[in-house]
Amino acid sequence: MTAHSERAPTLYGIVAFKLIRGIFLLMLAMKTYALVGEELRPHFDAAVLWLKLDPETEFFDHVGDRIEPGITTAELDDVADAFIRERGGVSASRGYRGYPAAICISPNDVVVHGIPGAHVVAEGDLITIDVGASLDGAIADSAYTFGVGAIDPETQRLLDVCQAALDAGIAAATIANRIGDISHAVQEVVEGAGFAVVRSLVGHGVGRHYHEDPHVPNFGQPGRGPRLSEGMTIAIEPMITVGSPEVRLHDDGWTISTEDGSLAAHFEHTVAILPDGPRILTPRVGVPAGRT
Ligand code: MF3
Ligand code: CO
Repeated sequence: MTAHSERAPTLYGIVAFKLIRGIFLLMLAMKTYALVGEELRPHFDAAVLWLKLDPETEFFDHVGDRIEPGITTAELDDVADAFIRERGGVSASRGYRGYPAAICISPNDVVVHGIPGAHVVAEGDLITIDVGASLDGAIADSAYTFGVGAIDPETQRLLDVCQAALDAGIAAATIANRIGDISHAVQEVVEGAGFAVVRSLVGHGVGRHYHEDPHVPNFGQPGRGPRLSEGMTIAIEPMITVGSPEVRLHDDGWTISTEDGSLAAHFEHTVAILPDGPRILTPRVGVPAGRT
């Protein structure tokens, strides 16, 4: 009896412990579910946005055709604005935290968030066009760096590597992978080619809002970070430089350029995570020949 009476509370203890642990795990699971439900819920509506906007004429094709020496970035903004409006879309950038234009246009050493204005496009320029637009409440986000006319081979390589890094990031955007797998894939391509990844600027979830969780950095370790799940839509956007990865914010509160004045490139797609693999929701159709 003594032995039994000593064991009995231990046994009850174990049962009670298992019960409490079970309830705790259940609560944890419910919290995770709630988080996924709220913050990482499927944004699949964004899926069709780009093609719904215009299945015939692709945005970057349309605006890219006008990028020629002599045009100002303000004029290019008008072209972009008209394209979006005429198709019933709304710029996601205008008014976003007070941003004053339809799209961002970032020449040469400007990495992101260049405000369209007096810059006159010149032969040899790099011109990054970054557009976020919404249609029926769903937002998609995409960027492309154009070389104007003849650009030197090293600059061309910068563009090719940035595009390849984006492609590698997209290829890693599969269910059960994690954000870190995308980040790592991008970083490997960029640094393997001798260029630098800007670390203070990251990709992001996109769909109901312009910028949602999770962050999608362009550097990181495989197997780390939030898990990718079906229906998530994320903007993958390597921002890379020839020289130092450090950037500086201009006095206008928006323009972000390389600190050392070296050239930068930026390519971005909105991508949906689907069972059969990543789907690019902002596909390029018919980008003009000679432009990469
Ligand atoms: N399109 C940008 C991005 O890639 C965000 C621009 S915010 C703006 O995330 F306000 F500057 F437009
Ligand atoms: Co973006």
